[in-house]
Amino acid sequence: MHKPDPRVTRDKIHALVKEYYQQAHQPAPFVAGESKVHYAGRVFDEQELLLGVDSVLDFWLTLGSYGQAFEEKLKSYLGVRDVILVNSGSSANLVAFASLLSPEMERPLQRNDEVITPAVTFPSTLAPIVLNGLVPVFVDCELGTYNIDCSQLEGALSPKVKAMVIPHTLGNVVDMDYLRDFAQAHSLYLLEDTCDALGSKWNGRMAGTFGDLGTLSFYPAHHITMGEGGAVFTNNGRLAKIVRSLRDWGRDCWCEPGVSNTCQKRFGWQLGDLPFGYDHKYVYSNIGYNLKPTDIQAAIGVGQLEKLPMFVAKRKENLKALFHRLQKHVEYLLLPKWLDRADPSWFGFPITVRENPYFTRNELTNYLEQNKVETRLLFAGNILRQPAYRNIQRRAVGDLRNSDTVMNQTFFIGVYPGIEMKMIDYVCEMFDQFIHKKTRRAA
Ligand SMILES: Cc1ncc(COP(=O)(O)O)c(C=O)c1O
Repeated sequence: MHKPDPRVTRDKIHALVKEYYQQAHQPAPFVAGESKVHYAGRVFDEQELLLGVDSVLDFWLTLGSYGQAFEEKLKSYLGVRDVILVNSGSSANLVAFASLLSPEMERPLQRNDEVITPAVTFPSTLAPIVLNGLVPVFVDCELGTYNIDCSQLEGALSPKVKAMVIPHTLGNVVDMDYLRDFAQAHSLYLLEDTCDALGSKWNGRMAGTFGDLGTLSFYPAHHITMGEGGAVFTNNGRLAKIVRSLRDWGRDCWCEPGVSNTCQKRFGWQLGDLPFGYDHKYVYSNIGYNLKPTDIQAAIGVGQLEKLPMFVAKRKENLKALFHRLQKHVEYLLLPKWLDRADPSWFGFPITVRENPYFTRNELTNYLEQNKVETRLLFAGNILRQPAYRNIQRRAVGDLRNSDTVMNQTFFIGVYPGIEMKMIDYVCEMFDQFIHKKTRRAA
């Protein structure tokens, strides 16, 4: 009897998926005043759908060939030795930071050690420091770049400071020459949170590759997406092994899911106080988690990585267009600033409403939102004002004045690749209208 060929069925499914993409997911044309101008969003085509469907049809489910392909591609994009895929940017920060406390490190961080980090931050950039029992030392940010103010780093030092956790805010790049020299001079570990900065460069080199570890998020708002997802990357082989272990239950074994005996001595190890030959698959050298994504997520990520160079170029182009068009409002709006050697792959377009007698940040963002231009605040603002963090054990340098300004006066709008020039025209028109109304009425 004729046995149906699954490859033929797969081809039919592919044809239907392409048809489905055309019918269901083609972006609708932009209608000014009716369509929302989002601050971020997924940008994809039939390729991501096909890869996701293929992965479902393979039904491997847990990390497998797509996970490996993704890690390889991202490794070569970033120019790093290791990429470890995890299920979110928050998980990436968690395992990256926790790796610095591992007993497998020569000089592990200890509870109550101090860690320098900015007060303007994302909660899960800071959370791993607190959750691991270390003490954050908060430094203010610079207005305009919204990155940690490097001139205040010396003031944050103490004999207990052993590490720095530094985000590249909204894709803008911190002065990595300064930061790396500072870390080296004081023997500090450096973790770069690059969740908002995939593709950003400092002096031609990828952000996230200057420190010991870099982290990424693949949540839909970010530069590429797999729904939920993230990654840790590093050039340090020991840290890579520890991060993988922490992601995978803390185990000592480094076999891929579904694979056994990669080390060729699965029953030949003598570790801890275990009997000789205890199955290596069940030996735990770290106190870990399970933070793996599925292969279906990784498959979608493979499709997204193909588009990454185009996404980065579009983000830069959109930022430039907004920057030029909004110049006329610099009396009221502080536009983004970046350093000469920074080549940011922007996450968003930050704006601080200067103190003025005519309008506040909230009035402006309300007007934009009412007119279908999405806005976002700069994450947690001064995180020490947040209910969850106001009573944590910490030190701070100075009064964190700029962080409060960010909390009260800063917001950002989108530059993501789904934003077309006619949307930018519309967004700028809304700024023009609002500022004209406010300042004319008052005059
Ligand atoms: C700087 C930064 N770090 C970490 C994260 C956390 O990433 P995720 O949402 O994938 O957990 C985000 C999320 O937007 C972020 O902006």
